[in-house]
Formats: sequence, structure tokens, C-alpha cells
Amino acid sequence: MGIEGKVTAVVGGGSGIGAGICEHFAAKGAKVAVCDVNAQKAQDVADRIVKAGGTAIAMCFDVRHRQEIEKSFLSIENELGELDVLVNSAGISIIVPCLECTEEIWDLTLDINLKGTFQCCQAALRHMAPRKRGSIINISSQSGKVGHTEYQAYCASKFGIIGVTQSLAAEFAPLGIRVNAICPGIVMTQMWKEQLPSYCKKHHFSAEEAVPYMEGNIPMHRLGTVEDVANVAEFLAWSESSYITGQSINVVGGYIMH
Ligand SMILES: NC(=O)c1ccc[n+]([C@@H]2O[C@H](COP(=O)([O-])OP(=O)(O)OC[C@H]3O[C@@H](n4cnc5c(N)ncnc54)[C@H](O)[C@@H]3O)[C@@H](O)[C@H]2O)c1
Repeated sequence: MGIEGKVTAVVGGGSGIGAGICEHFAAKGAKVAVCDVNAQKAQDVADRIVKAGGTAIAMCFDVRHRQEIEKSFLSIENELGELDVLVNSAGISIIVPCLECTEEIWDLTLDINLKGTFQCCQAALRHMAPRKRGSIINISSQSGKVGHTEYQAYCASKFGIIGVTQSLAAEFAPLGIRVNAICPGIVMTQMWKEQLPSYCKKHHFSAEEAVPYMEGNIPMHRLGTVEDVANVAEFLAWSESSYITGQSINVVGGYIMH
């Protein structure tokens, strides 16, 4: 039942939402490959899981490098068994006014967030397709549904993830492989802490004013947590959601409703 024993690769598992999903899945008995470009962060998460009695390995690769991904997925299958679930959570986020957004920022954001997600899906599907089994969960964003100011590259990458998700879902549905996306609202991870100064600059307020302002815009009056996202990822990973594919599920406390 559930995700017990399921081999799950979480890309971007070294921090924030990805790390939360790794720990949540491992606590429910999944065998987790914590994948990240930051080897130390991936190892720390895997060590925490093993110390708590779970099964995890750390895997280091950059989602921009196709060969590294494919080699790592082979290692995951050799060490943990056949891949059942892929979660794509690797990403970067840069708030920058449109007229200051360089080609470098645009390319980096699209390469990691969008091309990286596609490349990991493709590598996983090479293993899943012949077995006609698997569930892929891509982490998009509320910014994949609504455009926010000073956020063109990020929004493009997250809207793009929803397109990739729908296209893959349609292509692989006949094989019984499901592909869905989760669109979280604001979760105060390392990513958000790092971009908070740019966010405050954009809104002309101080760091102390930022979180109350964010909470005030959310009907449920609180920010999201990694557990909020991990619970939905768990549901999408297992057979109880077997008729759900190609969906992009908002986990935003009511901030957006489409
Ligand atoms: N935190 C939020 O509010 C929020 C909201 C909506 C969507 N998201 C999305 O959720 C995902 C996780 O965000 P987070 O807040 O946990 O961020 P985070 O910075 O805490 O974690 C992101 C992880 O991705 C890894 N990563 C970055 N570039 C990589 C690369 N090239 N190859 C492999 N790994 C790489 C980082 O090392 C890091 O461990 C991102 O895709 C983000 O866009 C976050």
C-alpha cells in the first residue's frame, strides 16, 4: 500500500521542498535517491534519512548535463532497484526587473528549471516506458499559472513545465505512466530567503514587512510548508491517484484557483 518500497528519485532533493519530499517519502517507507548538484547537501539529507531508519542514497549531478543524468539514473537502478517515481524539484529563482534581465539570467533559469526538468523526465522515461509503470511529479509554481512582475524568466520556465507535463502525460498515458505537476505558493525555503531582498526592493518595503504582506494576500493567511507540498506529492505518487495525469495542482492556500 502507499509508497512503501517505491524507488523514488528526487532531483533537487538537497534543500527545501525537495529535501522535505525526500524525508516524507522515506518516512513512509520509500527508497529514496536524493539527487542534487550540491553533493554535500544531498549527502546530508541521505544521512539524516538513514539515521532515522530509512533507505536513501545521495546522487550528484547537474540537471543541465544530459549524460550525467543518464549515468546517475543507471546507478540509482543498480543501487535501489527499478525506478517507480521521479520528482523534479531542482530550480533557481531570480527576481529582476524586465529591463535588467540579462541573457545570462534568462538562459540559466530556462536551462535549469525547464530544460533540466525535461531532461530528467526523459532519462526516467527511458527506464519506465519498457516496464509500463511510473509516476512523474514536476514542481512548477503558482508563477506557472499567473505572471508576476520582475519574474519573466522564472514564469516562463514554470509555465513551460506545465506544458511539458501535459505533453508527456498525453504521450505516456497509454503506457500507464502518469505525469503531473504541483504548483506551490510561497514556501520560505533557502531559495526564498535568498531572493527576499529583491522582493522587498520590488515592493519598497522592509524585510519585516515582507511575510505579513505575503500572508495577507493568501486567503488562508499563512505561507505554505514543505509538508503541504510533500503530502500532495505522496498522493500523486501512488495508485490511489491512478486516474490523475496531466494535472497541475495548486498548493497555495487559495491564492489562485485555476
Ligand atoms: N519555495 C517556494 O516558495 C517555491 C514555490 C513554488 C515553486 N518552487 C519550486 O520548488 C522547487 C524547489 O524550490 P526550493 O524553494 O525548495 O529551493 P531550494 O533552493 O531550497 O532547493 C533547490 C535545490 O535545487 C538544487 N539545484 C539547483 N540547480 C540545480 C542543478 N542545475 N542541478 C541539480 N540541482 C540543482 C539546489 O542545489 C537546491 O538543493 C524549485 O523548482 C522552485 O522553483 C518553490
